[in-house]
Amino acid sequence: MSRSGQKREEGSAKIGWIVFIGCTIAAFLLGLLASSITERRAESHVARLQFLQPIAEWEADNAKWGMSFPREYNSWELTKKTEEATKYGGSKTVDYLAEKPHLVVMWAGYPFARSYNSPRGHYWAVNDVTSTKRVDEKTPGTCWTCKSPDAPRLMAEKGVGTFYKTPFAAFMNEVKNPIGCADCHNNETMALQISRPALKEAFARMGKDITKATHQEMRSLVCAQCHVEYYFKGKEDKYLTFPWDDGMSIEGMEEYYAKTEHVDWTHAISGAKMIKMQHPDYEVYMQGIHAYRGVSCADCHMPYKSEGGIKFTDHQVRSPLLNIANSCQVCHRWSEEDIRNRVYSLQAKHAEMLERAEKAITTLHLEIGDAKKLGASDDELANVRTLVSKAQMYWDYVAANNGMGFHAPQECARVLDKALGFASDGLVEIARIRAKKGAFEPATVPDVASKEKAQAYIKPFVDAAKAAAAAKEAAEKRAAEKAKAGG
Ligand code: HEC
Ligand code: HEC
Ligand code: HEC
Ligand code: HEC
Repeated sequence: MSRSGQKREEGSAKIGWIVFIGCTIAAFLLGLLASSITERRAESHVARLQFLQPIAEWEADNAKWGMSFPREYNSWELTKKTEEATKYGGSKTVDYLAEKPHLVVMWAGYPFARSYNSPRGHYWAVNDVTSTKRVDEKTPGTCWTCKSPDAPRLMAEKGVGTFYKTPFAAFMNEVKNPIGCADCHNNETMALQISRPALKEAFARMGKDITKATHQEMRSLVCAQCHVEYYFKGKEDKYLTFPWDDGMSIEGMEEYYAKTEHVDWTHAISGAKMIKMQHPDYEVYMQGIHAYRGVSCADCHMPYKSEGGIKFTDHQVRSPLLNIANSCQVCHRWSEEDIRNRVYSLQAKHAEMLERAEKAITTLHLEIGDAKKLGASDDELANVRTLVSKAQMYWDYVAANNGMGFHAPQECARVLDKALGFASDGLVEIARIRAKKGAFEPATVPDVASKEKAQAYIKPFVDAAKAAAAAKEAAEKRAAEKAKAGG
């Protein structure tokens, strides 16, 4: 063997060893990496529930729960943020009456004409309900129901019926904690649970047993305790009731309210008997594609979040458009921008339809008011008043529902189409009635271009309606006293 040949052989043996050792090290490192990945995957499972101290039944203090569950507590606390805005939502406060002064005319004679702001994070619930101008001496305890875990605590202490009936002001020092843990969780197991009787009762009246709800349904039903249409049943009782006996659609609610003859207020300008819808978020959501496919409120509004490899439920309940990566993108493989643009485009179409219905309904109230001034009688106005209150109730089912149409775009469009239809029929009829009284031109449109101007415009109507109601009550009282004295 030549010298050079021997060298070449030694060289290749060396290379062989280097390759062998190299591969061994690489294999070892790969093994390490693989085991760390599986470990991390195990770690990123939801943390085990560990109570560091027992939590009392109906414990309303969120910080006490937070001691055992700091991640959930800390993310819950972030609902205090108020600077995040999206095109139609977010946590920033928007004064809806300043944005759309014609709403003041639509609610003339009802507290919403005084003040109506966009919702903020759960952290603000107690603060916002105590500072709104809508609350007055007539407000019942019922109004606390969807604001605080102190509400179920007080219901347990005083009885549900008594809680509702007691004046709002009486619990001012009792209700301290904003929407929190006890509203949705069992204190011993942390399982999701329904703390509000109104939801259980509504299910029972529909012949459904809420305790049979699946885990996935519960991830929406905890929200349905508050994010629904409701009314206070009974002049004295003020018993919180969801009008679902004939279904959750607007037609079902219309039928329900017609049967119960419930009315929220008499419109100060048109004299129509009105119903104000609250926020039928759950009802509208139930008619959309996501509910149909079993996607829950929590899937979008409380997605999973990871911190230090630990996966937990993000309790910063807010607009999912501020958190597209963790919510929508878990299921939809489109870019963030595509998702946001798609939502904004649905919402812009919805906003356009809302506005058209609002303009028609506002004009109709004003024209009915004008016909009254021209001497039209209650009999002559009965049908057109029914039309305006129907139009507004349909519009409100959609307008008061959050999300600007996103939760069920097609259903919202259908309902707005009917609202605009009722208002248009009303406009035709009122034109005929006014023509009979000699008015052939539309009534002059008042200047209601700002919230202040609109509030100043409705004031004399509201004062007159109040005076008339007071006079009627006094007359009834006198008549009753007279009957008593006579008998
Ligand atoms: C498929 C996802 C999805 C589901 C499911 C869903 N939402 Fe939404 N929600 C949205 C989007 C998107 C918006 C619009 C947010 C915006 O405009 O910034 C929204 C808006 C809202 C808002 C207003 C938030 C704001 O910032 O203005 C509330 C309240 C709300 N949803 C409650 C609910 C409730 C209650 C449920 C279940 C009954 C539910 N949502 C189910 C996606 C969802
Ligand atoms: C509006 C309802 C709601 C409120 C209020 C709420 N939670 Fe939750 N919580 C949920 C939902 C929904 C889940 C997901 C449960 C599931 O799918 O099993 C959850 C899950 C949890 C879990 C299980 C682990 C996890 O992260 O998924 C813990 C622990 C928890 N919450 C603690 C709290 C604490 C502490 C508070 C109060 C600061 C609180 N929650 C307030 C709805 C709520
Ligand atoms: C105990 C009643 C209650 C429960 C339960 C509840 N909410 Fe709310 N929610 C409210 C109230 C009241 C507000 C408005 C608070 C304010 O503006 O002060 C609100 C506001 C919101 C907002 C607006 C937040 C923002 O940043 O604009 C969203 C979104 C929301 N809730 C979604 C949900 C979802 C999803 C669930 C169920 C997981 C749920 N809520 C459960 C009562 C409740
Ligand atoms: C848990 C899974 C899941 C999440 C989270 C989710 N979606 Fe969906 N989404 C679906 C399903 C399922 C459909 C039905 C169509 C399909 O099967 O692809 C759908 C349909 C849609 C559609 C089409 C609607 C229609 O009427 O045709 C839009 C738009 C949409 N989602 C937007 C969103 C947005 C925005 C979010 C986040 C706020 C979101 N989705 C979150 C599962 C989800």
